[in-house]
Amino acid sequence: MSGSEYAPPPCWPSGPFRCIVADPPWEYRESGGGNRVVSAHYPTMTTDDICALPVPAADDAVLYLWATAPKLEEALRVLTAWGFRYKTHAVWDKEIIGMGYWFRGQHELLLVGTRGKVKAPAQELRVSSVIRERRTVHSRKPELVQDMIERWFPGPRLELFARRPRENWTCWGNEVEANAALTGGVARTVQPLVGSLESET
Ligand SMILES: C[S@@+](CC[C@H](N)C(=O)[O-])C[C@H]1O[C@@H](n2cnc3c(N)ncnc32)[C@H](O)[C@@H]1O
Repeated sequence: MSGSEYAPPPCWPSGPFRCIVADPPWEYRESGGGNRVVSAHYPTMTTDDICALPVPAADDAVLYLWATAPKLEEALRVLTAWGFRYKTHAVWDKEIIGMGYWFRGQHELLLVGTRGKVKAPAQELRVSSVIRERRTVHSRKPELVQDMIERWFPGPRLELFARRPRENWTCWGNEVEANAALTGGVARTVQPLVGSLESET
């Protein structure tokens, strides 16, 4: 999907949401093939299209945005385009070394942005900026992030590019049952991807 094909997404949550977690399907220039290539696992989106999403954030809202190391600059662009100001980030240590060119990746970043008035989590609830949890299937993120957000902030809460439903969250993404994909503004149901999901992003 290119920027010019962008149209308001179907089945898009209306909000407004005070907490948003997003794990976008970043597009990579990848060589080779096989299941190490992200697009073998799910469709990807350009950064311009991700930026163009009309994210239904409340006036006072917090965003937790997942980014791989090579996508840091683009993730900051998305955070700003969605109307948030960068505050800080945490690192997810996957505890298993992966692939990579400059470094063999073992971590991902969780950027935090806010808009309006949002208080940081209460001091006694603050946790380390390093999240240690062993990576499981391809691109799956630790759900303890959502657990922490539930302890820290009141809802309503939205997960964008989710794979599974979660109680007390609005979960949107083309792998969440009965949801629709963004394909040039045309709704289509997407079947869960089949095959081995054992490689890393
Ligand atoms: C990085 S994965 C999210 C992984 C998820 N956070 C987890 O922990 O399992 C990105 C998701 O976005 C979905 N996706 C890709 N293109 C989409 C589109 N155009 N509309 C909706 N979802 C899309 C993919 O199918 C995939 O489920």
